[in-house]
Amino acid sequence: MLSRNLGQSGISVSAIGLGCMGLSEFYGEPTQESEAINLLHRAVDLGINHFDTAEIYGQGHNEQLLGKAFAGRWDQIVVATKFGPQRDPATGAFVGVDGSPANVRKSCEKSLKRLGIEKIDLYYLHRVDPATQIEDTIGEMAKLVQEGKIGAVGLSEASARTIERAHAVHPIAALQTEYSLFSRDIEKDILPTCVELGISLVAYSPLGRGMLTGRYASTSDRPTSATDFRTHMQPRFQPGNIESNLKLVGAIKEIAAQKGCMAAQVALAWVLDHGDHVVAIPGTTKLVNLQTNLGALDCRLTEGNRAKLNELADQVLGDRYSPEGMAAVNQ
Ligand code: ATR
Repeated sequence: MLSRNLGQSGISVSAIGLGCMGLSEFYGEPTQESEAINLLHRAVDLGINHFDTAEIYGQGHNEQLLGKAFAGRWDQIVVATKFGPQRDPATGAFVGVDGSPANVRKSCEKSLKRLGIEKIDLYYLHRVDPATQIEDTIGEMAKLVQEGKIGAVGLSEASARTIERAHAVHPIAALQTEYSLFSRDIEKDILPTCVELGISLVAYSPLGRGMLTGRYASTSDRPTSATDFRTHMQPRFQPGNIESNLKLVGAIKEIAAQKGCMAAQVALAWVLDHGDHVVAIPGTTKLVNLQTNLGALDCRLTEGNRAKLNELADQVLGDRYSPEGMAAVNQ
């Protein structure tokens, strides 16, 4: 398995990790526990060491799941988790972000407990809190590093300016942000800032939440279950946008067919091609898809392939989140 370093942290991760969110929520009902644990173990057996979770995924369920799966096996794992966004425990609704120093500490203690470990390898501020100075949040995270409770500090969906301010307080190992064939807005100033400061990019939703895999052939098989957040909250999956977006996916499928690989592999190869500072964390709940995704490491794109793929993002219809979701990114 190809490995890459996370910033200057000394942490080495598999270029393809596993986004674990879908095992708990947002993509339908949670995966049955035994099946989820089996998938997590098979992922390690296949060479994945980078597992990404967050306190909000299933409101603690996802971290607990990893804790149960990896008890006795943590020496083979780099675990990344995140804090900040707050949810109403009864409804699950998002009710803001708390990046206060008190919450940094409180959330970290809870995550350590749910995971059943003494140190989180990579701890991210999941969304920037507009009411707390980033220096204060990162200052407290730096204390957690000194105390040995976390190994490295990360940011998620932060603006270039926030990244610079944060990095001046404590080295930022990784920025986790959506990055894919369909979501390239960070190339303007966020990605160049990361490169300049030696910060890795952890690309989430590298498969466009499943759309780039070619699994949706037409508007009629778009996700429609009430527990799938793409049903209502994902503009790119909504009627009016999805028809046109699926035509763009057709171009990915065409390139994949010419190369004898899968559309998902082309999408992941495109992300990983950007350099050693980029790793991807596609999410899946299925072993067969995990295996397909790992096959991206053998998919070689030509200059011609890249030129065609690079034309797609500008033509995508719909934002990557609903207006409320968009309001919380790039702050
Ligand atoms: P996220 O970061 O939110 O997890 P993503 O990685 O872009 O988003 O895409 C995740 C979605 O892609 C999931 O719905 C996943 O569905 P399964 O759990 O059914 O696999 C889907 N997905 C991942 N890999 C896939 C593959 N190789 N083929 C088809 N769908 C895939």
